[in-house]
Amino acid sequence: MEKRRYYITTPIYYPSDKLHIGHTYCTVATDAMARYKRLTGCEVMFLTGTDEHGQKIEDKAREAGITPQEFVDNIVRGDRGILDLWKLMNISNDRFIRTTDSYHVSAIQKIFKKLHDNGDIYKGKYVGKYCKPCESFWTDSQLVDGKCPDCGREVQDAEEEAYFFKLSKYADKIQHLLEDTDFLEPRSRVNEMVNNFIKPGLEDLCVSRTSFTWGIPVDFDPGHVVYVWVDALSNYITALGYDNDQYDDYDKFWPADVHFVGKEIVRFHSIIWPAMLMSLGEPLPKKVFGHGWLLLDGGKMSKSKGNVVDPYILAEMFGVDALRFFLLRTFPFGSDGNFSNEALIQTINVDLANDLGNLLSRTVSMVGKYFGGQLPAGCGPSEEELRLAERCAQPNCFGVTVEPGDDACDVELIALASALRSRYEEQMEHFAFQNGLAEIFKVIDRANKYIDENAPWVLAKDITANGPRLAHVMYNLLETLRVCAILLTPFIPTSAAEVLRQIGACEKCSTWDSAAQWGALPQTVAVQRGENLFPRIDTEKALKELEAAAEAAKKAALPDLETEPQLEEKVDFDTFCKSDFRAVKVKDCQPVKKSDKLLRFTLDDGTGTDRQILSGIAKWYKPEELVGKTLMAIVNLPPRKMMGQESQGMLISAVHTEKGEERLNLLILDDKIPAGAKMC
Ligand code: MSP
Repeated sequence: MEKRRYYITTPIYYPSDKLHIGHTYCTVATDAMARYKRLTGCEVMFLTGTDEHGQKIEDKAREAGITPQEFVDNIVRGDRGILDLWKLMNISNDRFIRTTDSYHVSAIQKIFKKLHDNGDIYKGKYVGKYCKPCESFWTDSQLVDGKCPDCGREVQDAEEEAYFFKLSKYADKIQHLLEDTDFLEPRSRVNEMVNNFIKPGLEDLCVSRTSFTWGIPVDFDPGHVVYVWVDALSNYITALGYDNDQYDDYDKFWPADVHFVGKEIVRFHSIIWPAMLMSLGEPLPKKVFGHGWLLLDGGKMSKSKGNVVDPYILAEMFGVDALRFFLLRTFPFGSDGNFSNEALIQTINVDLANDLGNLLSRTVSMVGKYFGGQLPAGCGPSEEELRLAERCAQPNCFGVTVEPGDDACDVELIALASALRSRYEEQMEHFAFQNGLAEIFKVIDRANKYIDENAPWVLAKDITANGPRLAHVMYNLLETLRVCAILLTPFIPTSAAEVLRQIGACEKCSTWDSAAQWGALPQTVAVQRGENLFPRIDTEKALKELEAAAEAAKKAALPDLETEPQLEEKVDFDTFCKSDFRAVKVKDCQPVKKSDKLLRFTLDDGTGTDRQILSGIAKWYKPEELVGKTLMAIVNLPPRKMMGQESQGMLISAVHTEKGEERLNLLILDDKIPAGAKMC
């Protein structure tokens, strides 16, 4: 039988800065969904990539003194770049598109021409506002307090010759799509789109620029580059081979099952993208899901605000699976959530270390201790238990009333674990990752309670009498772990595989089908003790380490070397000549009492009378290393008192910043220069 197909995408990321935990959140969610669909037997196409054109990238490259291509290559492929991050996070994308890939570039030119040739793109003049960081055009009525409605930053006036896409023509169709179908989820986003963008009147969209060059040229009108969002949105089809020969999966995978996108780019995906596809005569994606933001202290993370959280630091400290798990367990996918290190550590300690980790280690070690690592035959489910499990494993069996037999807790555990797959599926199909995980952890909690209720250590005191019961209890625990581990695979792939390995689950009993088959684990399976999967974290110590790591990362990100910008204001020559710079020789140099900054210099300035200068350079020099040196001083400044002592001038030094730290170097002159020599 042909496999069901599933096409899922993340937004393609701007390689203008390194990615932060907010970007990671979206990709991890998409990865979990893609893995879930593969688990259920679908043939999945999971696409991610990078959106590499636009003025922001051009500006950043110029600042860095490199070409835009070199700039983006660095962030995409460079050390700890985007590709490295996805590898670290165990992202299982099937394809990665870069909008600078040549097949995409030529496909965009064809797409732009098609839109033009069918009369949906025309030439006009753009007058409006542009938000550079968001690469978005706005009309005055869309601004909030005169600022960009997405990021709240200043917008610029923009006026230039441009091509326009007839977005207004599609307003009714888009409104119908949004209001009368379940194209856009969560539902709350529909009102936002319709009320803010469609009802006030959908305006035509400016789709080319002439004021910068880092974009895909409009081939029939040189000087114009394609608006970055037209270029970016089309990635979802060019990556399948639309209008290019690089790939050949368009018919197989389009329309996409779902585009996962952050809430601020829902507008592009639910209005502009469907209109473009309607104009091209192509089918629309089945769904756009606008997820919430990960906030830090209540605000959106952004590099410019300096409040980004580095996923590398977290993954290296707590493990990739723990981080993936935290992101999807803690925040409802459709809403905003507040990130905090404390919440991360707590989730790891409670869910992973205490609940899952303990259940696994207790179960495996008890099977080892009481049965030499292998349960005896006959420890599996009874006929009655199998009947119950089968009933519970059916979809919509929720609310099944269990009829307690001799061992009420067995019945309850088996009913809960057998119903888990269908409850979980219900949540996963609606992208409710948090709820899907909550279902799993209900079962894990129940299993931990089951251990306490059965007190295997008491049963083990009389193994002859209680052996079969003890083995059955152990089997039920292994089965519960097996079902939970299978369903945890999309979230924590490496750890879930390790759980399955430790409980001795074979390939056949690690499948999606087997997750709904209580008793699929062979009864005489051999368990394998392994490492503690999720060691408990010492919160205080970890928080301190995180703080230190964040500080070090901040420092490392600072420019290597910075100097003050040169003054614009001119000084006339006569004024300059009034400053008297002289060579001075250091006769003596002493620290100034009660000051950790000042050094007191006794200087030979060539006049025959010693000159005293105080200088705040103690941080950089030891007094004794300066004695005998020839320095430069300005000697006609009015004397001033510092710490009660007179300073008659100022020593000249060079100042710059290195990795955020101020550095100072005295101007040390050649010893051949006599004291008193005038500098000019
Ligand atoms: N390049 C566009 C997308 C083009 S798709 C055809 C873009 N790139 S982005 O790098 O700025 O953002 C990529 C995704 O990351 C967006 O969906 C955005 O919402 C998401 N996130 C960025 N910061 C985020 C949080 N703090 N929290 C959650 N997601 C966030 O937009």
